[in-house]
Amino acid sequence: MADRILVTGGAGFVGSHVCKALAGAGLVPITYDDLSGGNKEAIRWGPLVTGDLADRDKLDFAMTRFKPRAVIHLAGVIAAGESVADPAKYYRINVVGSLELLGAMRRHGVDAAVFSSSAAVYGDAAEMPVTEDAAIQPTSPYGRTKAAVEGLLQDYVAYGLRSISLRYFNAAGADPDGELGELHEPETHLIPLVLEAAAGIRDVFEIYGTDYPTPDGTCIRDYVHVSDLARAHVLALERLARPGRAGAEAFNLGSGKGASVQEVIAATERVTGLVPPTRNGPRRPGDPARLVADPTRAMQQLGWQPRHDDLDTQIGHAWAFLDSRMGRRLRRAG
Ligand code: UFG
Repeated sequence: MADRILVTGGAGFVGSHVCKALAGAGLVPITYDDLSGGNKEAIRWGPLVTGDLADRDKLDFAMTRFKPRAVIHLAGVIAAGESVADPAKYYRINVVGSLELLGAMRRHGVDAAVFSSSAAVYGDAAEMPVTEDAAIQPTSPYGRTKAAVEGLLQDYVAYGLRSISLRYFNAAGADPDGELGELHEPETHLIPLVLEAAAGIRDVFEIYGTDYPTPDGTCIRDYVHVSDLARAHVLALERLARPGRAGAEAFNLGSGKGASVQEVIAATERVTGLVPPTRNGPRRPGDPARLVADPTRAMQQLGWQPRHDDLDTQIGHAWAFLDSRMGRRLRRAG
C-alpha cells in the first residue's frame, strides 16, 4: 500500500494543493483539519480526520489509524494584521498547536516533518532578495509564531526528528486544472481581494499604504504559484527520506521576483479586462515594505523550479477559479 502522509490544514488553500501533489506522486494524503478555515470540498485525494491540534485523542486516533510515514504541518492562523490585534490566538494555535502535534508524532514514532513556515520570519530584511541566512527578526506576532515553531523543530532534533521548514513568500494563483483555488473566510489576501473588486463582488479594494520606500510607494511582495509551493512539499519529503538525513533545514519558496500592490492591480486589469475600484488607505500594522526571496537553495538542494512564476499567469489561474465559482453561483441563483 502507498505511504500515507498526515497533512494538517489539508483543507486549506495551500494544503489542498499539497494533497493533490502528494496524490500525483503516488502518496496518500490524510487531511487533519478542523475546517475552521479550510473547505471540505477541497478534500478529494484522501480521507479527512476532523480535529484540531489541541485535541490529543483525535491526533492519537489519526496516527494510530493511518500510521503516517511523515507529517506535513500547514494548519494554523495566517493573517499578520490580525496577529497584531490578537496575539494570544496566534501563539495558542500556531505554537501550542504545533507542540501538541510534535508530541503526538513522538508518541507514535513519526520522525519526519515538513513545516509550512513563512517569509514573515524575516520581517524587514536588510538585504533583498532574502537568503535563508538573513536574520530572523519578524515584525508581527504571526511571524514570531512561525519563527518559534522553526525553533522547536531545531530543538526536537534531539528526539531524532528530521524536518524541513518551507518559508513561503506570497502564495498566489490556483490549480491550473481549475480543481482548487483560494477560499479564505474572511479573505485578507491581496490577489483574491483585487479580483473580487474587479468582479464586482467587493465594493472597493483598499491599498494599505502608499508611502512605503518603494518606487510606487506600495509594498512589494514575491508571488509564488500555489502549485509550485505544493510540489516543493513532495520534494521535501523525498529529501527527508534519503538515508542518513538528519537535522532541521529551512528553504525559501519564492519566485525571486517582486511585484508591488500597484503592479498587481495593473496585472489584474490586463488579465481580466476589468478595472477594480480602489482607494488609498493607511498602512496595515506589521507589514514590511519589501519581501523578495532568493530561492537558490531550494532550487539547488530540493531540485525545485517554479513553473508559473509570471504574475499574469498566477492572476489568470486565480481569476479562472473565481469566475467558475461565480458562474456556478449564478447558475444556482437562476
Ligand atoms: N494589501 C492591500 N490591501 C488589502 C490586502 C493586502 O494593500 O486589502 C497589501 C498588503 O499591505 C501587502 C500586500 O498587499 O503589502 C500583500 O498582502 P497579503 O495580505 O496578501 O499578504 P502578506 O504579504 O501580508 O502575507 C502573506 C502571507 C503570510 C506570509 C507573508 C510573507 O499571508 O502568511 O505573505 O510575505 F507570511
